Amino acid sequence: MVGLGTMGRNLLLNVAENGFGAAGYDLDVRKGALLLEEGRGLDVSAAENLPALLSQLATPRTIMLLVPAGGITDTVIEELTVLCEPGDLIIDGGNSHYLDTDRREAYLATKGLGFLGVGISGGEKGARTGPSIMPGGRRELYQRVEPLFRAIAAKVHDEPCVAYMGTRSAGHFVKMVHNGIEYAMMQILAEAFDLMNRAFRMPYERIARVFADWNNRELESYLVEISAAVLMKEDYITGQPVVEMILDTAGQKGTGGWTSRSALDLGVAIPTIDAAVTMRQISAQKHLRRMTAERFDLGDMPRMRDGGLDENLRELEAAVRGAFIASYAQGMTLLQVASQEFEYGLNLAEIARIWRGGCIIRSALLTDIREAFEAQPDLPTLMLDPDLSRQIGDVLEDWRYVTTQFVESPVPGMAIASALFYTKAAATERLPANLIQAQRDYFGAHTYQRTDKDGVFHTDDW
Ligand code: 6PG
Repeated sequence: MVGLGTMGRNLLLNVAENGFGAAGYDLDVRKGALLLEEGRGLDVSAAENLPALLSQLATPRTIMLLVPAGGITDTVIEELTVLCEPGDLIIDGGNSHYLDTDRREAYLATKGLGFLGVGISGGEKGARTGPSIMPGGRRELYQRVEPLFRAIAAKVHDEPCVAYMGTRSAGHFVKMVHNGIEYAMMQILAEAFDLMNRAFRMPYERIARVFADWNNRELESYLVEISAAVLMKEDYITGQPVVEMILDTAGQKGTGGWTSRSALDLGVAIPTIDAAVTMRQISAQKHLRRMTAERFDLGDMPRMRDGGLDENLRELEAAVRGAFIASYAQGMTLLQVASQEFEYGLNLAEIARIWRGGCIIRSALLTDIREAFEAQPDLPTLMLDPDLSRQIGDVLEDWRYVTTQFVESPVPGMAIASALFYTKAAATERLPANLIQAQRDYFGAHTYQRTDKDGVFHTDDW
């Protein structure tokens, strides 16, 4: 393992705990010392430099990188090309951009070195106790490490959350889309929290109990579970809920934005993931928001509907469920289109299967999604699956009502509303794109097709 940050160290300890001998190296020698301390009693060693690390490995060697994506990954790979021998395998387990992965695989092939781009999800805890693993590259190279990956991956009903994703950058592309869905789900939950807190005037502890309750039903998921946990936590300085004390500017390392950009390039609509990226950008501009807030009165909070808080919470739960399904649907369609375009050979049922455990977007809904793609592997949209379309139908009315609460109140609900409008648009047979076509033909003679006969038409005398 090159890179002994918390992720690298924890993954290596996981490897060693599963009976594989493992060695690690980090530029920062203190991290090597930490590895030895944490791995006492296990077959782990720490090397002082890269040549020393490589000399400890059986040939052909397997070297995994868990270093920051981008230039540092390239620098380490360049150093390894000098030290490795043909037949060695380099695995990039970071959140690398898929185009970098394609470039690195082709480059290393010219040196006789194997390369796998592997998405790993589950954060620091997942790395230690079992992540979800998304490997891409040449299948025979994957087979070399398959036993190890199966041993360290999370298990759901004894099935390891790892599967060969496909050729070249398939693994990193799937991980990127995983993160895009992660952004969407987090934003949806943040909007639900905002509505409960500001519109329903619920204290954090009560909101935490609602999330914990949702986690017992259809919305059972890691992100709902940790939302309950973080809202319960008290700040040790002020005694306030710690979430209240956290500055409202969201960070991002880029994978959500990459998902949006790739969807634009591939012509796939993923508005809820886009909305989540956009909201992180708006959140980051705190100074502008503060100035703009002084100029506007966004109105009063909406009145509670008959039935009171319980009814409002039931409707909100339904809206979040609809928005979650729409987010998965957008991500899955993007994967399907990318698989055709880049010839990855993705198996969407397998992807849903390995996302059920270990990763950040794990949820009960992924079981339904897996079944949908098992029944119909080339399903173009999850909204056509009989079970999921019924689930959307069940929540639609409540979801629309919750969206009106966002519209009528000062609380922005960009992701929940965008997911609803995506669903409505996708289920509308006749959209007003006829007017757009007429406008295009008017100003640019771009022509249009007709509803009543084949061919291409232009109106001369608009
Ligand atoms: C995971 C996470 C992990 C990381 C994100 C955070 O699957 O384990 O997605 O990869 O926490 O990259 O991304 P942002 O910093 O962009 O929120």
